[in-house]
Amino acid sequence: MSVIADKLTGRIVEEDGSFRTRMLAIAATLPSVIAMGRGDPDFHTPAHITAAAKKAIDDNQHHYTGPTGLPQLRTAIAADLKKEYGLDYGADDIVVTAGVQESITLIMLALINPGDEVLITSPRFTTYDTAVGLAGGVPVPVPTFQKDDFALDIGEIEKRITAKTKMFVLVSPNNPTGAVTPPDVIRKIAELAIKHDILIISDEIYAKIIYEGNEHLSIATLPGMKERTITLNGFSKTYAMTGWRVGYLAAPADFVTKVTEVRHTLSINTCTISQYAALAAVTGPHEPIQAMIDEYAQRRAFLLPALDEMGLTYGNPGGAFYVYINVSGTGMSTPDFCERLLRETGVMLFPGTMFGDHDPSYIRMSFLQPLPLIKEAVERMKGFIAKHGKAAA
Ligand SMILES: Cc1ncc(COP(=O)(O)O)c(C=O)c1O
Repeated sequence: MSVIADKLTGRIVEEDGSFRTRMLAIAATLPSVIAMGRGDPDFHTPAHITAAAKKAIDDNQHHYTGPTGLPQLRTAIAADLKKEYGLDYGADDIVVTAGVQESITLIMLALINPGDEVLITSPRFTTYDTAVGLAGGVPVPVPTFQKDDFALDIGEIEKRITAKTKMFVLVSPNNPTGAVTPPDVIRKIAELAIKHDILIISDEIYAKIIYEGNEHLSIATLPGMKERTITLNGFSKTYAMTGWRVGYLAAPADFVTKVTEVRHTLSINTCTISQYAALAAVTGPHEPIQAMIDEYAQRRAFLLPALDEMGLTYGNPGGAFYVYINVSGTGMSTPDFCERLLRETGVMLFPGTMFGDHDPSYIRMSFLQPLPLIKEAVERMKGFIAKHGKAAA
């Protein structure tokens, strides 16, 4: 170990990246891999958005912006939050960040004291664990279950509340399950938050990708909730803009003033050109966005019956572009399942244990490939399942 690595603080919660590294190394040796585990939309960023970025470069928009972001972008985001979700934020309540990812770190650094407990919808996007750990806090997973399509259960939350609980991270739709927390449960979470004086982080990055029969409710629209909620959203998923790195937090302006100090220290501002792209995204035509959402819906409509045919069960995903599949019936551990599936068929998926799942029965499959490739992946999986035994009923 180097002298430097030897002196690391205990605050870094290290994820075990060895499995992912091994999978990528195997994939590199195979001729026709179909990556069905990604979280990055396969679509290109719509042309009106990339055009706005090119124009920003030509107009020499290459200086710093204020740490909270371009004023016109903050105004446009506030208007969008009102129009899409009924949220009442003003431009002063918005901080534009380098993806939702940076917002998560900012929030934890600003609000978590050593020993504070943070409840997190689980299985989960494990950045939350890392960020809470960096601030010296303790992540407390709130499990969700296949029998509920992985929707949150209020009792599971309530029994984990202690005197140290400072925050609840609500991610709906969730990653990796696609679960949408129903409005009646959101209302009960709000009641709990007020009763126990808990802050809510509402990660709504997938909120525009919702399928028929499901409803998204932004918790900060409920009485008494805006003052204790930080709403997170961004451009990566909805607008196919992962690499541009634009997201934001929306919160009461007095918190925004404080967190801006942290933000300035971390990165000064979000890339200016990307902010112009985001402005075009949020003010531009909705049709290209709807076209992507419609395509995800078509892929989902193909995939779910195909899984049924294979005898695989899953939580019905109400949103996002993931399905969380139970492969315990094959008798393989999920890392083993994923590695053998990759070696034998070239279909690459990742196990739920990479999303902090306590139950090693699940894999996450995303539908972020064109439909013909998804169909090809399904054919290969069918052969694999047929060869290696019956799936769980
Ligand atoms: C639930 C959730 N929150 C936040 C992020 C980070 O997104 P961004 O690209 O905006 O940083 C992701 C990315 O996969 C996610 O799944």
